[in-house]
Amino acid sequence: MAIYAANWKMNILPSQVQELVTGIVDHKLSDSDQVILCPPSVYLQEAVNLTSQSQVVIGAQNTYFEVSGAYTGEISAKMVAELGATYVIVGHSERRQLFGDNDQIINKKVLATLEASLSPIICIGETLEQRESGDFYTVLESQIVSAVSGHETVLSAADFLIAYEPVWAIGTGKVASPEQAQDVHAFIRSRLESIFNEKKISILYGGSVKPSNAGELLLQQDIDGFLVGGASLSVADFTAIMSA
Ligand code: 13P
Repeated sequence: MAIYAANWKMNILPSQVQELVTGIVDHKLSDSDQVILCPPSVYLQEAVNLTSQSQVVIGAQNTYFEVSGAYTGEISAKMVAELGATYVIVGHSERRQLFGDNDQIINKKVLATLEASLSPIICIGETLEQRESGDFYTVLESQIVSAVSGHETVLSAADFLIAYEPVWAIGTGKVASPEQAQDVHAFIRSRLESIFNEKKISILYGGSVKPSNAGELLLQQDIDGFLVGGASLSVADFTAIMSA
């Protein structure tokens, strides 16, 4: 069983949504595989409608932590849930770097997601500088702990995913080697198991995943699936990743 999540980021025009979603829906999956498409929020309703008779589910790329109110430009987890989506990406490195999502905001967004009965896909990952400093496990540990802190009980009962996305591998074509990714995933799993008392949590890898590297990555014991950016914008590439 594997989980294939697509993060379209700010890509795809309205005229292209149907072809991309139906191309993925039409791909034959094994029953235990799960596919999550995260389009820009303006396409959420259409994506929910196009996937309603399929195994494919829909997630938002970001939601605000308040339920409603005077927050111009934002959308709430509750809105996304009522549209029929089931996941929300929380703490993506682009949100952390470009939009000021810090540990405290991410922690609140995780809770807001759970309160709307959605499942968070919590993203963590080190920068190149942090990796080269040698102490990046401390960075990853702190990202995990600060995202879930205070929500351990409710998260224990919920379905949620962790995505390890090394910042240096996102959109750069530089993928973590299977060994590098496996080492980090094993570390993340051991930390999660101690926080959540043995609960089995799926951990996705993200960062330049392509048809050519997906098979080897997925062979690693602690890699349960992928969060794919660029290659999720092509039916051919994304379905090839699903078949890898
Ligand atoms: P790329 O697959 O384009 O490197 O993006 C990864 C990512 O950020 C998914 O959330």
